[in-house]
Amino acid sequence: MATIKFLYKILTWPIWPPGQAPVKLRGEFVLSHEPPTDTLLNGLVAAYKQVFKETEYWAEDWPTEVILAKLQREVVPPRSFLTLMAGNNEWPVAGFAWGAKVGRKDLPNRIAPTLGKTEEELDDLVTVLARRGVKNLIYADEFGVMRKFQGGLEPVRGLLRPWLEWAWHAYRVHACMFWTTPSSPIYSLACKMGFRSVYSTEVERKEIVFLLNPDFRFLLKVVQNMGDREIARFLMAAERRKKPK
Ligand SMILES: CC(C)(COP(=O)(O)OP(=O)(O)OC[C@H]1O[C@@H](n2cnc3c(N)ncnc32)[C@H](O)[C@@H]1OP(=O)(O)O)[C@@H](O)C(=O)NCCC(=O)NCCS
Repeated sequence: MATIKFLYKILTWPIWPPGQAPVKLRGEFVLSHEPPTDTLLNGLVAAYKQVFKETEYWAEDWPTEVILAKLQREVVPPRSFLTLMAGNNEWPVAGFAWGAKVGRKDLPNRIAPTLGKTEEELDDLVTVLARRGVKNLIYADEFGVMRKFQGGLEPVRGLLRPWLEWAWHAYRVHACMFWTTPSSPIYSLACKMGFRSVYSTEVERKEIVFLLNPDFRFLLKVVQNMGDREIARFLMAAERRKKPK
């Protein structure tokens, strides 16, 4: 009963405009809508390579020119977003998230090249979105934090919140989707944050799943209004509820 009351309380909270949420971000997170230049671009490429090399569930080696081409294709103003988390002198960029506001019919065109699939092969994904009444969504192509800068919720909150705020305030879009491997920590974290696996496929012999949150406004209220410890308690309670008695 106490949980239901609490959930109801969250629903009554406002969604704050960008920069006005009561819970302030501690680190430096910058939202933009185009690829960075100079030091930040080099830092982003270095962080991208490192994130996908150092994680055993990805263990990928990305050539610089492929990352640059991906950025040019996927981060295009005004509908794209790019959030960067500041690092240190050695690693100017510690983490990144990018994507765009897309219509569901435009999604295959956006993601087919990355997945090495044809647009037709992604028809079922479009159907899944149509069945759930999702016409427009915010799609995250990339999300990652270098291991040495991980720790606690702050990196995830800081890389996520700015573009959810932007998507809601600029476009009134409230559906969000991304894909990952079930082995990434983001998978279980996202499932506790209102995302559900809606489609899966194989890419280079890896299973990948698409996770959809059809209405991220609850999540946005949580990350705008609740501190780290409160959210951690909330996540633990969600975990307890899911465990068989
Ligand atoms: C995805 C990524 C950014 C997630 O960051 P992370 O720090 O590994 O995420 P975690 O699962 O540790 O969760 C972050 C925090 O949430 C909180 N949390 C997570 N699950 C929790 C739970 N069940 N109960 C309470 N708190 C919890 C904790 O504070 C945790 O911090 P801690 O691990 O230092 O205690 C990172 O793993 C990464 O960059 N991976 C490689 C790239 C990748 O797979 N990207 C995703 C798709 S492309």
